[in-house]
Amino acid sequence: MPTAADARLEVARLIGRQVQRKPDSVLGLATGSTPVGVYALLAEMHARGELDFSRVTSFNLDEYVGIGPEHPASYRYYMDENLFRRINIRRENTYLPDGMTADIPGHCAAYEEAIRRAGGIDLQLLGVGGNGHIAFNEPGSSLASRTRLKTLAPQTAADNARFFPDPTKMPLHVITMGVGTVMEARQCVLLATGANKTDIVARFVEGPVSAFVPASVLQLHPNAVIVLDEAAAAKLVNSEYYRWVYDHKPAWQRV
Ligand code: GLP
Repeated sequence: MPTAADARLEVARLIGRQVQRKPDSVLGLATGSTPVGVYALLAEMHARGELDFSRVTSFNLDEYVGIGPEHPASYRYYMDENLFRRINIRRENTYLPDGMTADIPGHCAAYEEAIRRAGGIDLQLLGVGGNGHIAFNEPGSSLASRTRLKTLAPQTAADNARFFPDPTKMPLHVITMGVGTVMEARQCVLLATGANKTDIVARFVEGPVSAFVPASVLQLHPNAVIVLDEAAAAKLVNSEYYRWVYDHKPAWQRV
């Protein structure tokens, strides 16, 4: 897509189409700075009467351990602020890992079970970390991993410290869906924008599949869509071909 705004609009339309086609969709949602604009667009589409979330269920990818929903850097707080309170999704249908749980392994197993009970995730929104992580699956995460506790890599802690009022109090532990959990979603949509994602995009899209670049596992997903702006796509060898394919999509594949 020419600009980050175009990329965000494409992703919002993909999610919107999913909800219109299947009003009781199960959405997998992501945090970070990248999807903020997508959530703003979804809220606008809802306000215009184009999207009804009353029957939608959502599962977020991850949460910090040791901070509760009232903490401004918690992902529950982020989701409430950026999306949930702006649309008509029912709060009891919005799931995030509980960073305050006393039983992390038990909670992780229950989270997996809740996804299964909901019928599995129809569309999983993803971003990518500078080191290639998806959710909080840091390099080296098993490509078959499930929801579990992870320790952040120093680069991720440094990248995300800006969201904490006191970066020295940032948790280094998180609960995250596993790579295997993400791969079970029926469709994955990864959004990456900006020059700070250029190198990692080239590695995960066109490099080898490797646990050391967890996003590269999407090469094995039967229905994965990678939405990029020009800056993030700048080092892709095959970008002309990707553009050609996009421009020649049959009408039924367009959003
Ligand atoms: C965090 C999240 C990821 C997200 C990544 C990229 O680490 N756990 O799900 O993809 O940040 O964040 P940003 O969009 O801010 O670059």
